Amino acid sequence: MRIDIITVLPELLASPFEHSIMKRAQSRGLLEVHLHNPRDYTPYKQGQVDDYQFGGGAGMVMMPEPLAILLDKLKAERTYDEVIFMTPDGVLFNQKAANTLSLKENIIIICGHYKGIDDRIRQHYVTMEISIGDYVLSGGELAAAVVVDAVGRIIPGVLNDETSALFDSFQDGMLAPPVYTRPADFRGWPVPDILLCGDPKKIDDWRQEQSIKRTGERRPELLKDM
Ligand code: ADE
Repeated sequence: MRIDIITVLPELLASPFEHSIMKRAQSRGLLEVHLHNPRDYTPYKQGQVDDYQFGGGAGMVMMPEPLAILLDKLKAERTYDEVIFMTPDGVLFNQKAANTLSLKENIIIICGHYKGIDDRIRQHYVTMEISIGDYVLSGGELAAAVVVDAVGRIIPGVLNDETSALFDSFQDGMLAPPVYTRPADFRGWPVPDILLCGDPKKIDDWRQEQSIKRTGERRPELLKDM
């Protein structure tokens, strides 16, 4: 899968994909992340990419031309499955959306800045608008990093133990059960006996039960959706 990210702050996205699972996904050739700065494509002087909004009002707006020139260049090089705009007024991102995106071949993610991007880019280029939550970030970069991480880790072949993603919270519509590691007794706090019983069926049943309990306590609305 190839992800092209359009950002005026590529430095902000230099590190998130260079570690751990994202690094492995790239070194295995399963994920490519490319960063592009619209400043490098602007026809305006001094790398200008934003301007005052028509009609007045506080805050600058990202101009359409630098974005369109860059988008046209990318789209001439390959076919994209989605052109995504990160925005707090987009559709709320969730595991189901991550699963769907993980099966795509090429996607573009546009990070907004300032007051946003000229709406004509949204109307004529963007195919999907994603929000990562009901709060406003100072730019789309951190939101894009969240989406790339959530999508990248579930690309088939990225996780070593294929089953581990299956037991993630939300992957089956429920929260994950609690997990424990050594020592079996830490400061007098023992791990649940059942995990030491050696019977995989009993352990699976316990995990399922814990998963339902946690979901009921913390996110009861998820159980209603099932
Ligand atoms: N840009 C600013 N806030 C955002 C959010 N909550 N989700 C996605 N992109 C954003």
